[in-house]
Amino acid sequence: MRDPLFCRALTWLKYRGVSTMIHQPRLLRLISRTVQRQPWIGRLIKVVASRSDVVKVFERPLTFSSTAHRPNLVAGEFVIGMESGPRHAAERGLLHSRLPPGPTFEKFATSESRRRIDALRAGPASQFDLIEDFMVPVAWQAIGGSFGARLPSLTPGDPMFMHLRHIGAHLVVGSVTTEAAQRRARESAAALNAWVRSNIGQLHQAWGGTGAPSREDIARNVVGLLWVGHPATVQSGALIMQEFLSRRSEPKLRDLVNQVQAHPDPWQDLSLRLVLKDHVLELLRFRPPFPTPHRDVRRNAIYGEGGKGCIAAGSVLTMLSIGAMFDPAAMPDAPPADYEPGRLFVDQEDRSLIFGYGARRCIARDQVVEILTSAFLGLLRLPGLAWADPWWRRIGYDGPSICSMRLKFRNS
Ligand code: HEM
Repeated sequence: MRDPLFCRALTWLKYRGVSTMIHQPRLLRLISRTVQRQPWIGRLIKVVASRSDVVKVFERPLTFSSTAHRPNLVAGEFVIGMESGPRHAAERGLLHSRLPPGPTFEKFATSESRRRIDALRAGPASQFDLIEDFMVPVAWQAIGGSFGARLPSLTPGDPMFMHLRHIGAHLVVGSVTTEAAQRRARESAAALNAWVRSNIGQLHQAWGGTGAPSREDIARNVVGLLWVGHPATVQSGALIMQEFLSRRSEPKLRDLVNQVQAHPDPWQDLSLRLVLKDHVLELLRFRPPFPTPHRDVRRNAIYGEGGKGCIAAGSVLTMLSIGAMFDPAAMPDAPPADYEPGRLFVDQEDRSLIFGYGARRCIARDQVVEILTSAFLGLLRLPGLAWADPWWRRIGYDGPSICSMRLKFRNS
């Protein structure tokens, strides 16, 4: 029998290891490259890494099932962990019918991003926290405003944002998490469920109409949308900035900054917005928020290049989708390691591989790109944007989540 202290130490190490690993895109790409060159290693450790193998797994949801997420859904049942089939299709259809289109998200995100950036430029401060003072409220206004507009508005510092982060983090590290982090996620889930249910009257009005779902189904889905959507969007904003700051001296990014700062009203310029979207997707290709999704293997299956892989029902298969996003076979015009916004892919759907692929791809792909573009545009308006702290304490982590990132700018 193992010593409980040893078990606790092992769990803690796994939790720290996975939390750290997902923020090491270079290391993950190195592992992916190794697996791409030596597929037998992938077969040994039940990992796929080439674009072709990853996409084929995404395309076989009956064999490679999203139920791998289910044990990590502490806040209740939600579409992301359901088996593909009629129930999933109905729930996904319901969400699609209630989720407003991209331009609605753009409107709310732009208004909040603009308001916050104007306030920063007009105020005395020359430093701010990207998470707490910017991404959290921008994502909240866009997501809360768009698909409910009936939820009470929350201000930065509200404990609900921390609850969302704890529940969202569980999707990534739930299977290796410590007892304390599990308890915290369960308590946050209870708080979120209670809060959404206390607003169910307004939500029922917003989600009503033909084929209106029951109050319970509305509550369950709003809870899911909030914890899946808000933390992922906040984290993505931070990852975009981290990647941007690490390569801001590159000519393509210098030109972009000059263009945004010299523009009298970049918020209204649609062609500039398209360019910004290309940058957002390219920056996230280098730092994807979900670099290694998993799938439950439901039946014995043959998979991989040349059908050489053979995996038993009951196993878990890991997709190094970060590797698929750097597979030279998928992008003929520019080498994967080049920073090339608007790059061409063999299959243009790969442009948004960070949101998954096929029938289980993120339902909010277009809406999220709008939010992140509005956020990025606002940030680029700040002159001399840079890290506020030395490299060893630039980014604060809470498990796998970035919880603080202080930036500075020139405030005249
Ligand atoms: C930058 C932010 C986001 C990223 C990077 C992202 C990424 C993803 C990815 C990779 C998946 C597929 C997971 C898998 O195949 O295992 C997914 C699924 C999903 N996402 Fe997002 N997401 C983001 C934001 C959002 C937002 C804002 C919402 C809703 C408001 C949302 C709702 C969903 C839902 C409901 C699914 C499950 C789809 C299904 O299983 O049928 N996501 N997301």
